[in-house]
Amino acid sequence: MNIKTSDDPVALFKSWLSEATKDEINDPNAMALATCGKDGKPSVRMILLKQFDENGFKFHTNKESQKGEELSQTPYAALCFHWKSLRKQVRAEGRIEMVTEKEADDYFSNRPYERQIGAWASQQSRPLESRAHLEKKIKELQAQYPKGTTVPRPSYWVGYRLIPQTIEFWWDNPDRLHDRLKYTKNNDENWDIQRLYP
Ligand SMILES: Cc1cc2nc3c(=O)[nH]c(=O)nc-3n(C[C@H](O)[C@H](O)[C@H](O)COP(=O)(O)O)c2cc1C
Repeated sequence: MNIKTSDDPVALFKSWLSEATKDEINDPNAMALATCGKDGKPSVRMILLKQFDENGFKFHTNKESQKGEELSQTPYAALCFHWKSLRKQVRAEGRIEMVTEKEADDYFSNRPYERQIGAWASQQSRPLESRAHLEKKIKELQAQYPKGTTVPRPSYWVGYRLIPQTIEFWWDNPDRLHDRLKYTKNNDENWDIQRLYP
């Protein structure tokens, strides 16, 4: 397949994501996020990319969740997008930093009311005794923060940014000899480009 590439992986990722946004039925911004705690055992889950630019890949979650705990122990992560309809994959690896309180507040204040209440209600990744227990908690929170009033951000609902050290683009070729281009940030903060065997 003839693909327009670029010296700049940021521009290339933006163009692939915008193509995916047109073609993927659901969640073109969904990515697998792999983390690893101090025990060295990896874990992975899907998450939504909320912003991407030259500073990295930003996502929001609960810092008390399994991934949050692991990121606090080992602030490095890997992520992977697979756009089935485009037959393309992007992987990135790098250091993780938490976004500022202001950035997290701005993001939270723009979430729909139901999701704001959901963030308060969910002790993400910890045992839940029953579905009814969660529903009761949501009703109590709706009474505490009625619709139309400001719902404050729970301090545990935060944002992270993966600052890529590497970004790899993979695209399908009908002959199964797929293309792979790996961009690595060098010491001068420029990108080295390497083609890899499929
Ligand atoms: C398509 C998709 C998108 C998701 N996006 C998010 C997200 O943006 N933030 C989040 O905390 N969980 C998201 N989840 C739920 C996570 O996959 C996961 O169940 C949750 O964050 C708990 O993960 P952990 O126990 O590994 O911390 C998403 C799930 C799916 C299937």
